Order: sequence, then structure tokens, then C-alpha cells
Amino acid sequence: FAGGGRGRSALAFDPIAPVNRLVDEFTVPQGYQWAPVIRWGDPLFSSTPAFDLAAQSPEAQAGQFGYNNDYLDILADPSGKTGVLVTNHEYVNPNIMFAPTDDPAEKQRRGDICKAAQGMAVVELRRRREGEPWQYQVDGRRNRRITVETVFELTGRAAGSDLVKTAEDPEGRWVKGTLGNCAGGTTPWGTVLSGEENFNGYFAWAADTPQQKRYSGSSTTSTETGWEAYDPRFDAHNPDFVNEPNRFGYIVEVDPEDPTSTPLKHTAMGRLKHEGANVIIAPDGRVVAYMGDDERNDYLYKFVSRDRYRGGKGHGARRKNMRLLSEGDLYVARFTGNSPVAEITGTGALPSDGRFDGIGEWVALTRDGESVVPGMSTEEVLVYTRLAADAVGATKMDRPEDVEPNPKTGKVYVALTNNSNRGSSSPVDEANPITGNRYGHVLELTETDGQAGRTFGWSILLLCGDPAVTGYTYFAGFPKELVSPISCPDNLAFDSEGNLWISTDGQPGTIGFNDGLFKVPLEGRERGHVQQFLSVPREAETCGPVIHDREGLVFVAVQHPGENGSIGAQTSLFPDYGSTAPGTAAAPRPSVVQVWSSDRRS
Ligand code: FEO
Ligand code: CA
Ligand code: CA
Ligand code: CA
Repeated sequence: FAGGGRGRSALAFDPIAPVNRLVDEFTVPQGYQWAPVIRWGDPLFSSTPAFDLAAQSPEAQAGQFGYNNDYLDILADPSGKTGVLVTNHEYVNPNIMFAPTDDPAEKQRRGDICKAAQGMAVVELRRRREGEPWQYQVDGRRNRRITVETVFELTGRAAGSDLVKTAEDPEGRWVKGTLGNCAGGTTPWGTVLSGEENFNGYFAWAADTPQQKRYSGSSTTSTETGWEAYDPRFDAHNPDFVNEPNRFGYIVEVDPEDPTSTPLKHTAMGRLKHEGANVIIAPDGRVVAYMGDDERNDYLYKFVSRDRYRGGKGHGARRKNMRLLSEGDLYVARFTGNSPVAEITGTGALPSDGRFDGIGEWVALTRDGESVVPGMSTEEVLVYTRLAADAVGATKMDRPEDVEPNPKTGKVYVALTNNSNRGSSSPVDEANPITGNRYGHVLELTETDGQAGRTFGWSILLLCGDPAVTGYTYFAGFPKELVSPISCPDNLAFDSEGNLWISTDGQPGTIGFNDGLFKVPLEGRERGHVQQFLSVPREAETCGPVIHDREGLVFVAVQHPGENGSIGAQTSLFPDYGSTAPGTAAAPRPSVVQVWSSDRRS
């Protein structure tokens, strides 16, 4: 590995060597330290009991940090000494939270613990001086848990429609809970967006209609959390709740400043397995959001607001800006390659022009907020968005995860994590050129008609893999013998200099290394130089990277450590590692970790 060299950046580092997938350690570069900011079960309130794995209850969990943190942001206040942490709690791993049971009452109690362990968390942070690592505050003013019982307001044209009404909500405007909150994005007005991704898995699923089939394939009668056994709204076969699944699969918006505020679900941004949403302001003030539907052969989307962003962080501006994502137009991407189809062989061999690249179009699903899809009403486009995108001939992609505009350049980066079906159920194309795409790739889009416009150019930035064993890897032309191996790109972030950071989900099963976080310069001679910064423990996924390079601080959400183990047969003990101090646990705990440079100047 080529050393990054110790330049002026407060985050200079020499890349770490990749870490074998059986190693249960959190690994950082030489000269860096790490510690959890907050772990699953840490209490947010003094009235909440300390974490006790054996005595866990739904009431305790509702006041504690939740499970499987994914999206993460760390928002410092102007003083730099206080701030707030916002995270998603995407899902639960009951096999490493509980010992097995067959008792129905105990199953329901555990189901309720799981309802409280999911959702989102807002946690107050404090530190003595700007630039130092943070500590979380019990009883912080902004502390809040959002769970599967928290009420959300539906916004946009599908709110109040028949497609989202249930026996419990005949208005079709008030939804209990959020599910499968994966990645997200922080808006310029200070709110946090979160994508409801694999919501289908929480329902006993009905597959009687093409619409139901398109979101989850076949019918099911039971789920891993078991909620359908005692809470009828999770049984989509129940006529009273047949529309309950239509109330999930949205982008939600939370105001971390106001713990009493009602969070929003924005139907105008469509219903799909939303990975997340990242917002940039177009020069004319309209808000543009980029979004991926994380399923094999699903699509890339863009939302453009009708109204314009108002500057200022005051309460009034924020309240108005919180309506921007309720009215606007939804587009889906169609990619066209510029090389002969015969040159896209599925092997990763570059076409004769030397690049996988071409042009693309954002195809409208709505105009002035109204459906332009033949045969579909506006409500149907917003609730059955996948079918609308099918109808207009969008390009099937290799599982679009995070899609994020570079705040320095406006170029948009798309993490396509993998697609075992490429080349079988969908043919290879120049934007998805690898048969069975095992290691994933990253696209770079350049808007050619303005940020809010309808056309773009694109090229493949990275074809991931381990260059030592994967024949076809590509790193924007950078010498492949000098990069860190990388596989299954998932979350994206940018540092203050506009470098791309990528976190991964799936390296252990594809290249044999633990998942990690990687820096990729995008400009100049270093463009494409993938350098690994950290590695997470055994069976964990690296999520939510936050890069505060000017402070020499990096934050990640460590999700599902030890996910293949069980109580009594743990495969990870991260992050307590056998400590018996109060509040520790002999089980792996999803945690938010901060990493700092030991020679940091503050
Ligand atoms: Fe929850 Fe697409 O990762
Ligand atoms: Ca080409
Ligand atoms: Ca993800
Ligand atoms: Ca993932």
C-alpha cells in the first residue's frame, strides 16, 4: 500500500492492511484511537434503567439507545461544545439479543422490546473544547427515541388517499412507526432524512395483487419479530389493515432540535425500498434529492421540490423548509452507454473507448405534482412507485444503495453494492457491466442540464474487488496494485476537501476481509486511490460514516457485530470485550464509534 503521507490534513493516515473476517477487532490507522460514543442499551434518561441483557424490558429499551445503528450524523452547535447525534436503528437480531423460547407471552414481550429497539435516536452530545471527541448526555434536552409506536404525519398527494387508509387511521394521515430505517441524509435546514428500506419483512405479507407482488414477491404468514401474532396491523391479510404496508417505504424527516415534533413521511418522494436520500440546493433554490431503491434490478430516483429553500436556521425558516419535500416532482434514471453493446461482455473488460460511460435521462413520473404515467393516478405513482418506474422503462441497476451529491462539485455518486442476478434476470449493460456483479461498483454522474435538470453524463468510477484475486477491478485508472481491496460499497460521505468516503457491507463473504471505511480522492493524480481507514469487528457492517476531517474526527455506526452467533455462543464481544463493569454486556452491541488522531491539535 502506498502511504497517504502526513500532509496538512488533520486526518492524514497510512492505510491499514485489510483485516481477516474472523478477527473481532475494531482497527484504526497508526496514531489513531477509538472509543464508543454510545452503545445499544445505553440509557438516554436518568429514569431509564442501566442496560441489563438478562432483565431487558420494552419500557427500558424505549429509553435506551436502540439496536443496529445505520445512518449517522453528528451535528455540532455553533459553540462547537454541544451538539447532537442522530441515528437510524434499522432492524434487530433476536438471535443475539435473546436466548431461545417457545413461550407465547415471552415471545410477545420480546416482540415489544424489538419494537422499542428499532426506529431512530436523537442524543445530545457535549465536550469541553471544540475539536475534542464527544460524550453523550443522559437527560440531554434533545434526547429522543423514535420507535415502531411513534406517530408520523404523511405528507404529499398520497396522504389522505384511499390507498393509505386503515381501520385504525380512516383519515390516512397518521402512521404509527417507521421501519427498516437504513441510510439517510442531513438537510441544509438541519433536519435528518431516513429511508424506510426493507419494511416488507415486518408484515405477514399478502401477495394477491401485482402491486403487492412487486414490493415483496410471495405471500408470507409469519415474520422474525412475530408482531403479526398479536398486533393486527402487521398482518396484511387482515382486511382492516390490508393498506398498512402502503404506509411504509417512504423517506421520513425528523427535526432533531425539537423532541416533541411530529416526524414526517413524504409520499412525494415515492414509495420503494428507500436506502436513503441526500439533498442539494439547485442554483434557483429548488431542493434536489437523490435516492436509491435497494433491490436487485431496481432503480435510481431524483426528486425536485416545487418550492424554494429559505436560508437561515431559525425555527420559522425550518418549519417552512420542512414542507419542501412534500410537493415536487419525481424522476427515475434511464442510462444509455456510448460503447457498442457487443463490447460489454460481462467480464469487466473495458470497452474500446477505455471507459464504461455514457449519457442518461431523468424520466418524469410526475409533472407539477401530477402523474404523467399512463394508466396510473398520482396517488398510485406515489404509493406504487416501482410499477410507475417499470412503465416508463427505467434502467435496472445493481442494488442502488447510498446516492450522494458531492457538496464541492455537485457531481452525484451512486453506490451499487452487488447483484447476483445481473446477466441472468437482467442483461449486462454499460452502467451495470459485470455478470453476477459480486463486488459492486460506484458510478459518477454529472448533471448536464443543471442540478434540477433532466439529463446527465455518467461513468463508472470504481469496479470493486480485491485486485490480487479479482481479474477486472478498476479504480478510475489509478494503479490497482496501490489500492486497498474493497467490496460491496454501501454508504457514502464526503470530507471538507471533497474526497469521497465509502463504507462497505459484504466484504467478509466476498473478499474474506471485515467490512471497513475507505477514502477515495476524486481529483488530480490521486483520483481513484482507494485507501482503507478502519475495519469493523467480526460479522459487522460499517455504516453511517461521518468525516469531520478538520477536527481529525471520524464516526461510524457499527451494525450487527456477531450477527451469526447466539446467546452463549457469541462470535463477537464488541465493544465491551468481556468487561464486567456496570452497564456492560457479554453480548455484541451495535455502537456508534468515534476515531480520533492522537496527535490532534485542539
Ligand atoms: Fe440497509 Fe441497503 O442497506
Ligand atoms: Ca464507453
Ligand atoms: Ca445500507
Ligand atoms: Ca447494506
